[in-house]
Amino acid sequence: MSLIEQAAKRLEELRRAGAQTSVEEGVASHAGGAPGPGAHIPTPEAAVHALGVRDVEAGNTAPHTAQRVHAHPIAEAPLRFVDINIERLKQLGFVTPDAPKSQIADEFRVVKRPIIRNAQARVPASIRNRNLVMVTSALPGEGKTFTAINLAISVAMEFDNTVLLVDGDVAHPSLPDILGLPGSPGLLDLLARGSIDVADALVKTSIDKLTILPAGSRHRRATELLASEQMTSLLRELASRYSDRIIIFDSPPLLATTEARVLATHMGQVIMVVAANSTTKHAVNQALATVENCDIVMMMLNKANKTDVGDYYGYYADEGSQ
Ligand SMILES: Nc1ncnc2c1ncn2[C@@H]1O[C@H](COP(=O)(O)OP(=O)(O)OP(=O)(O)O)[C@@H](O)[C@H]1O
Ligand SMILES: [Mg+2]
Repeated sequence: MSLIEQAAKRLEELRRAGAQTSVEEGVASHAGGAPGPGAHIPTPEAAVHALGVRDVEAGNTAPHTAQRVHAHPIAEAPLRFVDINIERLKQLGFVTPDAPKSQIADEFRVVKRPIIRNAQARVPASIRNRNLVMVTSALPGEGKTFTAINLAISVAMEFDNTVLLVDGDVAHPSLPDILGLPGSPGLLDLLARGSIDVADALVKTSIDKLTILPAGSRHRRATELLASEQMTSLLRELASRYSDRIIIFDSPPLLATTEARVLATHMGQVIMVVAANSTTKHAVNQALATVENCDIVMMMLNKANKTDVGDYYGYYADEGSQ
């Protein structure tokens, strides 16, 4: 079955199940053919549409059977605080809380909508960890970190609840430099050293409702730690204790590392960033194959202009006709 046929089939399954898979119904229709009435092509730089959902009907999703190893105590408030340099973020082109009407803010307002809806209780309970959202891509440099930070700030600006941004790119963490954070303790320390409290690893920020979990100290067995029972236990704790919170993971590239694939196994939603004019069709297909067991996978076109967006949708239409 071609990619476009798979997309159409999965969209239909998801629609039947009641989840939102696109920024607009028109865009969802567009994934399988011509845009419907009211179709909305997102503004340049970012466009999101659903590629698919697997096993969304009740009972089809594998039960979550991992045993709890230990629970990290989660205190009410993080112990560390960072004052984020908003002017620098703005110069780098990010969404900032003081510019809610900027073009980039508008774009991420569109991008986040289906993610928030899916995280809330509108999709079947069989989708576990629906509030765990991983931002990934096939290859380095396609805009994962840019997207993860923008998404987190955008949700923190408008969402009623809180956002936790996790640096899941444990081998090459970028959040400390961009946001001016301490790199550790963080995720890997929580996994490797059960004695650390989650509150010791979290960093509260000057952006209201945005908290960050850095990647933590480098560890030679990082992949194993991300695949461990401790990780399952920690994520379950975070996802259930903060069920009203969206937890966004920046991640490494799917085709260059094993860590991203392991991270994806825990996620309720995966956002696949595709760089316009640089990510090849082959790379996108390979990357999608690595996350085929994830419940919800959405595609986001990055670094596009309006013409690119038109070409992008044509790209899948071409494949579907092969
Ligand atoms: N839409 C965009 N507009 C402007 N700059 C962007 C955009 N997307 C990405 N960039 C810039 O491109 C560079 C690479 O992006 P980013 O670091 O987010 O990629 P990545 O996929 O996280 O890379 P890596 O795999 O190395 O972690 C960064 O300097 C980032 O700020
Ligand atoms: Mg990155």
